[in-house]
Amino acid sequence: MGSLQVRLFLTYLFIIVVTLGLATLSLFLLLGGYRDSITYGNLETLGPFVRTQVGITAPDVLDSREPDDTVPVGADVLLNILGIREERDSERLRTVTSLAVIDAQGNVLPDAWAGPVSLLDAATVELSSPAALATTSDISPRRCRMDIPEGPSLLCVALPLRGLAPEVEEAFGPDAVGIVVATPAAGMGEVLADLTPRLLFSGLIGLAAALVLGFLLSQSVAAPLRNIASAARNVARGNYRQRVPVTGPREVRDLAANFNRMTGEVQRSQQTLRDFLANISHELKTPLTSIRGFSEAVLDGTIDDPEGIRRSARIINDESGRVLRLVEELLDLSRIESGQISMRKEPLRLDELFEHLSALFALRSEDTGIKLEITNTTSARVDGDYDRLEQVLNNLLDNAFRHTPEGGLIRLSARDLHDGAVQVMVSDTGVGISPRDLPHLFDRFYRAQSMGNRNRKGYGLGLAISREIVRAHGGEIWATSEPNQGTSFVFTLPTVGQAARKAGS
Ligand SMILES: Nc1ncnc2c1ncn2[C@@H]1O[C@H](COP(=O)(O)OP(=O)(O)O)[C@@H](O)[C@H]1O
Ligand SMILES: [Mg+2]
Repeated sequence: MGSLQVRLFLTYLFIIVVTLGLATLSLFLLLGGYRDSITYGNLETLGPFVRTQVGITAPDVLDSREPDDTVPVGADVLLNILGIREERDSERLRTVTSLAVIDAQGNVLPDAWAGPVSLLDAATVELSSPAALATTSDISPRRCRMDIPEGPSLLCVALPLRGLAPEVEEAFGPDAVGIVVATPAAGMGEVLADLTPRLLFSGLIGLAAALVLGFLLSQSVAAPLRNIASAARNVARGNYRQRVPVTGPREVRDLAANFNRMTGEVQRSQQTLRDFLANISHELKTPLTSIRGFSEAVLDGTIDDPEGIRRSARIINDESGRVLRLVEELLDLSRIESGQISMRKEPLRLDELFEHLSALFALRSEDTGIKLEITNTTSARVDGDYDRLEQVLNNLLDNAFRHTPEGGLIRLSARDLHDGAVQVMVSDTGVGISPRDLPHLFDRFYRAQSMGNRNRKGYGLGLAISREIVRAHGGEIWATSEPNQGTSFVFTLPTVGQAARKAGS
């Protein structure tokens, strides 16, 4: 009962049963009325014929009566009429029609009836005003109902006897006012008895079809959901390769597709984590190996001259510095990524920062013969953390100096953008970056392989850190490059007004 499939199935079943039941009921009701109206229709065509026949037959019967006739005159007339039924009467009417003559109260006159239904003697006819039959000149049939005590209820039509041959009154007596043509009402029971087997049969076929369909439908929803559930269990156990087929109704397909996307994402981030750890181990191994090598050599006396010892100490110092820098950069990256370090933002003019950087790189520019050109056309103040932005530009300029040959040119520039942002650019005329490397530049530990990368000092973390810092400022950073022509790194920063508007909205 708890399972979705069972519930869906039961729901279908319930709907089908209710629908079939309602259809059967309404069919019965409709058909009941329908049958009555057919019966009345037949009686209405038969009525005038019977009335005319009464006028014709009554004189004939009176003429041809033998003294020893036992049948009362009225009944004799009516029996005669029943005998001369024409072909046009339907089979049913011919076998079940009763004729009766009534008085002004609607009571059937004794000995003035004929037909297959007995006991008509005590019967009464329900008619809107039976007395009117005595006076009316309207000879159209009126619908009525005949009640027979302890007998069936009959549908009937009544017509006036007025205006027929005078022998009619002689045959039926002075109380007679109307002739009634009656036939059993097609009762509900009859309709039910007639329809039930057919309805039951079609109901069963419908039910069987519905059962199969309901099963298939509920299966189409439940089966994919079961797949997803078992896949989710597998993922929980650590099997991230798990994918589910995208089938079933749209919502279930959506769920399956999103599930696959999610597991894909989990798998990717697991992979990233593994790569990250592998990278760190790899980066640590080289400096630690040489630290260990030199310290062992000193310890076991392989290196014992003072010059050698001093050289070893310098190497150990350099290498441990490298390790320390790696650890610092990693800590930095993880703190910014996890939001542990927040930017200490303040309104600042880029001029000040640029001047500082110009001083910082002046010596390096002189040493390498690479010209550093700084232009700032911004008027607005940016909303930024001075030290962090310096860190970004420091890394971009350092990269540029490292990948630009002697005599090259490095440009640092800033300009206003239309939408309340400032764009900062560091471009160089260096070796460039191959299109293959461009999309990965900002990945952790990514260092471009190509372009004769001589300087392998860095860890490939600088750009990853830079991107985190720029993003923490609400900006974006990207690179464009032309191999052997140069590279441009561009990032955006919101200006003070814009940042306030963003925060306000
Ligand atoms: N201006 C540039 N010209 C050419 N290659 C660059 C430039 N800037 C960065 N790169 C490439 O991107 C890589 C990643 O840079 P970065 O993240 O700063 O790491 P690192 O400087 O420690 O190598 C560099 O190793 C280099 O291959
Ligand atoms: Mg760098």
